[in-house]
Amino acid sequence: MAKSVKGFDAIETASRDKIASLQLARLRKTLARVYERVPFYREAFKRAGVHPRDLRDLGDLRRFPFTIKDDLRQNYPFGLLATPRTDVVRVHASSGTTGTPTVVAYTRADIATWSDLVARSIYAAGGRQGDIVHVAYGYGLFTGGLGAHYGAERLGCTVIPMSGGQTEKQAKFITDLKPDIIMVTPSYMVALGETFRRQGVDPRETSLRIGIHGAEPWSNEMRREIESMFGIDAVDIYGLSEVMGPGVASECVESKDGPTIWEDHFYPEIVDPVSGEPLPDGSFGELVFTSLTKEALPIIRYRTRDLTRLLPGTARTMRRMDRISGRTDDMMIIRGVNVFPTQIEELICQDERLSPHYELHLSRERALDELLVRVEGEAPEAADDLSARIKDLIGVSAKIELMPTGSLARSEGKAKRVFDHRN
Ligand code: DLL
Repeated sequence: MAKSVKGFDAIETASRDKIASLQLARLRKTLARVYERVPFYREAFKRAGVHPRDLRDLGDLRRFPFTIKDDLRQNYPFGLLATPRTDVVRVHASSGTTGTPTVVAYTRADIATWSDLVARSIYAAGGRQGDIVHVAYGYGLFTGGLGAHYGAERLGCTVIPMSGGQTEKQAKFITDLKPDIIMVTPSYMVALGETFRRQGVDPRETSLRIGIHGAEPWSNEMRREIESMFGIDAVDIYGLSEVMGPGVASECVESKDGPTIWEDHFYPEIVDPVSGEPLPDGSFGELVFTSLTKEALPIIRYRTRDLTRLLPGTARTMRRMDRISGRTDDMMIIRGVNVFPTQIEELICQDERLSPHYELHLSRERALDELLVRVEGEAPEAADDLSARIKDLIGVSAKIELMPTGSLARSEGKAKRVFDHRN
């Protein structure tokens, strides 16, 4: 099955020249296809004064206009399709808490590509044909469950399609069916570990070998927490429904240094989140993706709102992205200082007296922003220490409220960390 020694597909370790020429050919095709078939793109290109034939090399992509989430909403549900609706075999939708959801669509070939890329991701994490994979990402409109499921089947694994929730039952199935791999959000993984402990089972004693975690920002400290709790390798999988779903990028277990972007299918850029100017590799900014092979819903220069930087390949020749530091929308600005939830998470996970469950509450008192950190822990000195470390290392004052163990809501999917009471 594996066509090369290292990865699932030979292209993962091809020369940079070979990857770039494949990208250019596929990008040309994609731009021509959307210009021909999707009125939204044709008009946007015309407004920007560009035509697909203006793309001579990959750098010319910067002349093409961005696509934003609102463009998908405006064209809800099927306005951006580049194939007849009858060629669409599946839709998914974003969890969007407000307003019109965004619907995304897949042809049979799109589902096959997605399955291949999730299979490649599981392989990169150390999974192999014959492994048992427990999928605890939610099934349904969310891309996590079905995306992971099809990829694991494609690799030739035995899939337990558990979905999210029913935590006690999850623990029972893990004990009885003895999976090798679990695919689940990092926050729910911690909740599962606690459930095992409550049942008197040491999570390190389960059969699990590998955790493939994503769908929400998490820190390296959280990785260490999960790895020591379960005695497994925990890797980072990234993706978003507008671009495909899980498996746009995924971490290689041998390096654990940020997700490798599957560059033969997605062309990444980093842009300044304010000006939109492209930034060189290594600079932090907003991640932008252009799909290179999608049929039903090709997407051009999609602004993800995720903040990271592009890094050279290590375990593969394809470039990596750094762990997502946060989203432009959940960056907290506290008295002028930019703070991401994962920065506070790192400090919480470094202190053994605190458990990695936390909530960040923002309020405004007499025109000043206040940050309240609710975290589970018993030792009052831990609260003072955390407050001092937040002040020292992040530069903001925070009030800490220690909560009894088990009192904060447990996530069964994507955890909600920030509660903004300022409006
Ligand atoms: O969360 C797809 C997914 C499912 C990825 C399962 C990984 C595992 P959406 O619901 O469209 O799709 O949400 C996409 O989630 O823009 C990021 O802000 C965030 N996100 C996804 N993966 C990661 C990750 C899925 N590994 C949004 N680290 C993205 C940090 C992540 N944030």
